[in-house]
Amino acid sequence: TIPRYVKIVEVGPRDGLQNEKEIVPPSIKIELIKMLVSSGLPVVEATSFVSPKWVPQLADAKDVLEAIQCVEGARFPVLTPNLKGFEAAVAAGAKEVAIFAAASESFSKSNINCSIEDSLARYRDVVLAAKKLSIPVRGIIAASNPFMYVLIMRIIAVLYISCVVGCPIEGAIAPSKVAYVAKELFDMGCFEISLGDTIGVGTPGTVIPMLEAVIDVVPLEKLAVHFHDTYGQALSNILASLQMGISIVDSSVSGLGGCPYAKGASGNVATEDVVYMLNGLRVETNVDLRKVMLAGDFICKHLGRSSGSKTTIALSRT
Ligand code: HMG
Ligand code: MG
Repeated sequence: TIPRYVKIVEVGPRDGLQNEKEIVPPSIKIELIKMLVSSGLPVVEATSFVSPKWVPQLADAKDVLEAIQCVEGARFPVLTPNLKGFEAAVAAGAKEVAIFAAASESFSKSNINCSIEDSLARYRDVVLAAKKLSIPVRGIIAASNPFMYVLIMRIIAVLYISCVVGCPIEGAIAPSKVAYVAKELFDMGCFEISLGDTIGVGTPGTVIPMLEAVIDVVPLEKLAVHFHDTYGQALSNILASLQMGISIVDSSVSGLGGCPYAKGASGNVATEDVVYMLNGLRVETNVDLRKVMLAGDFICKHLGRSSGSKTTIALSRT
């Protein structure tokens, strides 16, 4: 059975824009975020505190995050690849951060310039830093292993695992590898784990076995799915995930997006299309489709391109 409520995590301002060559001014990003929040989206991934040499588009992370501190009604996680990014994010007012690991060695190297194990070590530092900030931390010690404790933090770390079904460099990824990284980071203290098909090659044929492996080691309600739509498989993959009980879905307004370090990755699944499908399934999201379309129209006009959402194209004709 499908969940009655699905939490949509809007990633447009971060994943959607990070690959854009022309720098979008902070004022446009801020307005976009405000429009997305007003549509009812409960979580809007706002930006990344990564190296501006790696992702020039998000060099204004501080300005954007500071400017939305007064915006109420949504949470604004930001990506932090290391301690430096974490500290800058907190200084700019971050109340939630996201760390991002890979299930593929080569993608880890090309995306964050280190091995999976090194990234896990780096992320341990980030989790520790969150604790040191006198932020209330609830720890649960798993009886079998003193290192397996779960930290539920006010500065909450959301984990992204990139390349869950296919890696741009290595090809197919074993479900057990994804499950391994998922468990490592869950045990470290992440409250939610988003499983990303970075290059959009997955089909229900590969996504279902991957989810089965992860569900074995991480509680179902902690899992999110993050699909790119390169091969037009995203909605099928989301439906398959919902049928397995997943109730958190990442998407990007107008289907903007693509990872700068994953060649050929196209946009994320469009938020408008996800909302349209969930409305059809009578699944609650609290998101107003028309208002997401307005946000999509606003950013597409700025970028000078047409919407990547089929729902938007269809509804605009009438
Ligand atoms: P590095 O070059 O190995 O880092 O990059 P370093 O520690 O050697 O430092 C090099 C320079 O970067 C230094 O500056 C540092 O200060 C600076 P310099 O002395 O040369 O002037 N630096 C930073 N500056 C700002 N913020 C920071 C930071 N850290 C170091 N946080 C690093 C390592 C991780 C920083 C780099 O590889 C990086 O920024 N990577 C980000 C890549 C990225 O953002 N990718 C896109 C997001 S992932 C994605 O889209 C997938 C996802 O959507 C899920 C899916 O689809 O599957 C999440
Ligand atoms: Mg992505």
